[in-house]
Amino acid sequence: MKGSILKLLKAQPEALSGEVISKELGISRVSIWKHIRKLQECGYQIDASPKGYRFCGDPDIPYPWEFDEGPATVHYFKVADSTMEIAREKARSGCPDFTVVVAGRQRSGRGRLDRPWSSEEGGLYFTMVLRPPVPPALSPRISFGASLVLVKVLRGMFGIQAEVKWPNDILVGDGKLSGMLSEMEADSDRLSYLNIGIGLNVNNAPSVEGQQTVSLAGLTGKRPIKKKILAHFLSKFSIFMEELPLDRVISEWKRYTSTLNRPVRVVTYNDTTVGIAEDVADDGTLVVRLDDGSTRKVVYGDCFYQNKQEFDV
Ligand code: BTN
Repeated sequence: MKGSILKLLKAQPEALSGEVISKELGISRVSIWKHIRKLQECGYQIDASPKGYRFCGDPDIPYPWEFDEGPATVHYFKVADSTMEIAREKARSGCPDFTVVVAGRQRSGRGRLDRPWSSEEGGLYFTMVLRPPVPPALSPRISFGASLVLVKVLRGMFGIQAEVKWPNDILVGDGKLSGMLSEMEADSDRLSYLNIGIGLNVNNAPSVEGQQTVSLAGLTGKRPIKKKILAHFLSKFSIFMEELPLDRVISEWKRYTSTLNRPVRVVTYNDTTVGIAEDVADDGTLVVRLDDGSTRKVVYGDCFYQNKQEFDV
């Protein structure tokens, strides 16, 4: 109902009377008044006068009703430990496909390889619960699909030269703009759920040791609206999930990557691989050409770009 009230108010620059809204939505004027009061408490600027209600502005908060017309069921938390934890609980207790958990900030945001993910107010932090009808071995391709969709959305919305870095980071130049974490559980040969968590630096300025970072605000000189980015991404990603073009996702991803043909150091829990990133195979593994001319396939890890001198040492 809040989404419908906002839609009516936003479509009308003049004040709209309680009576008109009540007729339009088929609920009582008292109930409308209660919803408006709640919206005001949530940060919406709605002017109430004897003429009626007038929309004057809204907060950049991804409340669920902002996504009423979109493909996903969105849950918003002002603060969470980690959206990955909430999404896992929801997935295990049977939430529908394309449930999205989004947080204003995270107390213990998680990055890959058990690293913390800086999650101050201003960034976009969310985890999608997906239940695609595919075997677990194909799940990496869906994560590649998510980073591919995100890089295209960011280029399209902001005109930035964003690129994907294996496996699913998004960089602009050498600065990290976004990171992605995937978790899954499977019932025999079918995914039970695949949770994809995304952190995007929007109006925050994370400082991470040993890592250059960038934010959309820093890149554009503006204050991008997080809920618009999320809505746009979810809409494009839902199309990807409907079409599920898993046979061509990796080849398309390669058109947007800065990883290939460059010296890399790939760190996993138990080893480090140094060489030239030669290819990303169809299963999502990174093919690295080693110094002795042989190749090694790396399934998972953090990839660091090396400059030539570092590499030669
Ligand atoms: C990485 O690049 O190391 C992955 C970062 C993933 C961060 C996101 S923010 C939303 C979700 N919740 C978390 O705790 N982590 C992921």
